[in-house]
Amino acid sequence: MNRLICIFFGLIFITGCSVKSAQEKDKFVEGQDITTDNGMVVSAHPQSSRIGVSILQKDGNAVDAAVATEFALAVCYPEAGNIGGGGFMLIRTSDGKTDVIDYREKAPIHASRDMYLDKSGNVSEGLSTETHLASGVPGTVDGMIIAHSKYGKLPFKDVIQPAIDLAEKGFPVTRRQAEDFNSNRKSFLVRNSFRPAFVKDSLWKEGDILIQSALAETLKRIRDQGREGFYSGMTARLMIREMNRGNGIISEQDLKEYRSVSRIPLTADYKGFRIITVAPPSSGGIILIQLLKMTDPYPLSEWGFNSSKTIHLMVEAERRAFADRSEYLGDPEFVKIPVNQLVSKKYLIDRMSTFDEKRASFSQEIRPGSPEGYTSEETTHYSVVDAGGNAVAATTTLNNTFGNSIVVDSAGFLLNNQMDDFSVKPGFPNMYGLVGGEANSVQPGKRMLSSMTPVIVEKEGKLLLVLGSPGGSTIPTTVFQVIVNVLDFGMSIAQAVDAGRFHHQWLPDWISYEKHAIDSVSLEKLRDIGHILKERPSIGSVNAIMILPGGKKAGGADKRSNNSSCGY
Ligand code: GLY
Repeated sequence: MNRLICIFFGLIFITGCSVKSAQEKDKFVEGQDITTDNGMVVSAHPQSSRIGVSILQKDGNAVDAAVATEFALAVCYPEAGNIGGGGFMLIRTSDGKTDVIDYREKAPIHASRDMYLDKSGNVSEGLSTETHLASGVPGTVDGMIIAHSKYGKLPFKDVIQPAIDLAEKGFPVTRRQAEDFNSNRKSFLVRNSFRPAFVKDSLWKEGDILIQSALAETLKRIRDQGREGFYSGMTARLMIREMNRGNGIISEQDLKEYRSVSRIPLTADYKGFRIITVAPPSSGGIILIQLLKMTDPYPLSEWGFNSSKTIHLMVEAERRAFADRSEYLGDPEFVKIPVNQLVSKKYLIDRMSTFDEKRASFSQEIRPGSPEGYTSEETTHYSVVDAGGNAVAATTTLNNTFGNSIVVDSAGFLLNNQMDDFSVKPGFPNMYGLVGGEANSVQPGKRMLSSMTPVIVEKEGKLLLVLGSPGGSTIPTTVFQVIVNVLDFGMSIAQAVDAGRFHHQWLPDWISYEKHAIDSVSLEKLRDIGHILKERPSIGSVNAIMILPGGKKAGGADKRSNNSSCGY
């Protein structure tokens, strides 16, 4: 059942209350599955969702709210929210125009192909994940400034101010955050030369207040100086000093030259719906479209949700899509990617020609395909829809939880460890077990391949769904399942988000699944036809909005985490 919380001048009343506000405009509702008439923000933390909605209520549009939410996440959700990382923002304006702001990090100019290998050519453990060398040049601040300058309506200073206030005044940490800070305590202490705000004398508990004064000062410099407040001046000097302390290689020139990129979204039709998502350097959009097209010819709704037949088909498609990822995908500015061929119907029908309804394939026998004409865990997602129908789906990350756990001294923000998303050595699995080759090798100035998959779905030219998820390699398969749950199985957005999930990524060659996602009969049938199955902790954490007939917005904040829908 929905947990409805009505907020009135900052006082919180729990469940089902109906508080009459003197200022109707400031009234909002929040919970995990809520329905509202006007705007909505669904994100990983109640504070960031509230801040996003407060911007909508000040007549900001969806992009103003998204930028405010992103900066707020950098404060209240340091596990993945960031100014030291990067991401992808998919925008659809109410007149149907679409755009992608790619603010993915880049390899520093002094990066090199074998920088994570020792003298014998072996991967040096931890170098691409736990050190200053793990960080790519951050993209978030430039991405937010570009998104706001192209689409924002309110002044930038008004949009970033709530995040500054949140950092200065502090906020109560959730139970899960208290656990995250406590379990990461040792890394924070070992990898920093000072005691970051995330470490206290005693262990954290739910409700303790986290104040981040140094981060507030950095955000003020961004408020007052725009991109110069981050990529040059005091913040840049602090970042370079931090790099020098830990033998990192991000230079003044890297910061000065970083630019986010506006890209054309990737689109496809699926059963009469239009899927809009992101192109490389994220692999997520191509994988999602391949999965939808490979499964399109089969009667999923007849086979049923998470039946053995449905799961078998979906994982066989996943196996093939991830094999292609390993071979073909990387930064389009460095490698020629046969995008059109990889998502063509002809190629994907051919790719599934070896699908056998009665037998699992072996990943060793599935090689990347040969598209015609080709020569050669922790992330976070938020969804925003404003009252006028503009929509934003944005996924942003430091890579795994708290990035490399290194906080820029006196600047208060965490650095990413996104360099691990490169293929540091052909065939060597990264932290998500993904393997890759030359297309995703380290090169100076190159963007590392991502799996982030923000998605917007249209029905008959109108906005229907806005969604995305964290989860590294499981991101595209998670959004695939949520889309299929709504479009094929007719679930509500809350049911679709809550439903149990499974995942296959070619290598390692097994299906991972959440407890209770697959019933015992289906598990047995899948094993009988040759699948290896491994139960694992939860997969993904979706934040979605669905537009209902009549125009109301339904929020689907994943109950696997402390995610929050907020609207008015
Ligand atoms: N760092 C996770 C991703 O971009 O896929």
